[in-house]
Amino acid sequence: MNRPSIPHAAGECATAPRADLWSSVQQAAQRQAGRHLRDQFATDPDRAARMSARCGGIFVDYSKNRLDDADLQQLFALADASGLRGAIDAMFTGERINSTEHRAVLHTALRAPADADIRVDGHNVVPEVHAELAHMAAFAEQLRSGQWRGHTGERITNIVNIGIGGSDLGPRLVCDALRPLGHPDLRTHFVANVDAGRLNGLLRQLDPRTTLFVVCSKSFTTQETLTNARSARAWFLREGATDADVSRHFVAVSTNAEAVAGFGIDPANMFGFWDWVGGRYSLWSAVGLSIMLQIGPAAFRELLAGAHAMDEHFRTAPWSHNLPVLLALIGVWYVNGFGAATHMVAPYDHGLRQLPGYLQQLDMESNGKQTTRDGAPVPRATGPVVWGNSGINGQHAFYQLLHQGAQLVPADFVATLHSPDNTRPHHDIVLANCIAQAQALMMGRTADEARAEMVAEGLPPERIAELLPHRCFGGNRPTNVILLDALTPHTLGALLAMYEHKVFTQGVLWNLNSFDQWGVELGKQLARRIEAAFDSGEPPAGADSSTRQLIALARAALRARDDGAA
Ligand code: F6P
Repeated sequence: MNRPSIPHAAGECATAPRADLWSSVQQAAQRQAGRHLRDQFATDPDRAARMSARCGGIFVDYSKNRLDDADLQQLFALADASGLRGAIDAMFTGERINSTEHRAVLHTALRAPADADIRVDGHNVVPEVHAELAHMAAFAEQLRSGQWRGHTGERITNIVNIGIGGSDLGPRLVCDALRPLGHPDLRTHFVANVDAGRLNGLLRQLDPRTTLFVVCSKSFTTQETLTNARSARAWFLREGATDADVSRHFVAVSTNAEAVAGFGIDPANMFGFWDWVGGRYSLWSAVGLSIMLQIGPAAFRELLAGAHAMDEHFRTAPWSHNLPVLLALIGVWYVNGFGAATHMVAPYDHGLRQLPGYLQQLDMESNGKQTTRDGAPVPRATGPVVWGNSGINGQHAFYQLLHQGAQLVPADFVATLHSPDNTRPHHDIVLANCIAQAQALMMGRTADEARAEMVAEGLPPERIAELLPHRCFGGNRPTNVILLDALTPHTLGALLAMYEHKVFTQGVLWNLNSFDQWGVELGKQLARRIEAAFDSGEPPAGADSSTRQLIALARAALRARDDGAA
């Protein structure tokens, strides 16, 4: 198949027009800096209807952003000049767009229907994707039905996913969000942190006879995961099981069959995936095994179907209706036009409380880069710091800065319209607050309004004068309000795919490879040397005085621990 390439800055989209477009975008943003959203709403009654879009069960109101139709057109032109259309095609058709690792990027193939034909080097990958799904489903059915038993013949009641980063955050978020659909007799736990406090604390609550460990690691070399997995196995054996029993209680998810076998997990109990699935894009693969065990194969397929619906939307919808593209362009608008350094995500649904953490990895590991695909420095700011927390809780904690702080913090508010478990008045309060916060951030409060309010409260004039500057809000602070019809596997799949494609689009605009993560390597290498220094007493060669001092303090504490234990 003849596949389009992702255009480089110096490639088919000439650098000069692209640079011009970036400056036009910046100039347009500067013009908006002098305008207030209040006025734009006052003079444009159709603004909300026009600046909203929907895909399936997801509705996005992006009207409370500091841009107008002409600005959007300019951003669409930037997307065109950046080669976004070709880049989307290149990703979906299996081109090796992860250039530094020479890999295709095909998480979209993981949720494609069985009759799709998606090729990597001429080889259709869809049949193996569906074969692995069937493998997972067969295991999930056995375990959920009680056919798969532990070594003493008891049913498995607790699943422990041991993984970190992409082998943890996606499954953790989805299991949490879809907990109401979970098997009534199964509880799912996640262990990522290598701090023994996490694993030991959990193991104290578990019975080895009824626990299944899913050791989840794409590389199967991640120190934290393998250390936790070894400790879990040691606990299992200490509690009376034998090596022969391990295969009933430990399964692995990985692309590295050799390392799985080396670890001692039966290859028959390994669920595989492929190097063209990035860790942070992997929940749709066997990395989602703990999800499937919890919600069952049918609901897992619904999750995939929701993501696939978003894939099709992203691939085919015009930019003006394309949710991931709109969100990406709006994000770039604030980073590069307004100098916004962060982006806040606030879920207004308890089930989505893990969303900010998940999006941190997705966005910051993908676009936290300053080198273009061609190896040159990126001439502008790139991925923002993504942060957030439950919206309702945040209102009583950090929202003060959003309303009156000196920095502009664009935000996504994510809420659910139909939520059967969220009874009256709880859900009413959640939705009212979500809508109110977006309104307050946009409107602000003028001096006249603040004064009138204080007069109505009966405050004396000198108190009003004193408080007035503190009770005014500038407003004009942007939000996207993202409403799910309901929190179902389908809408959740679509929501996460929407964010994946938003991040991809931004990577294309900034001309980044969003699919490698070289920045995480140095710390890992240094940690290994420092750990060795704890044993040898010899600080790593060339270590600075601060690092040597810290190693000495840590080493003394670790030795005291060991002496105490001896
Ligand atoms: O160190 C970062 C990272 O490689 C992430 O990209 C990845 O999701 C995580 O570690 C876990 O990796 P693995 O699944 O190979 O254990």
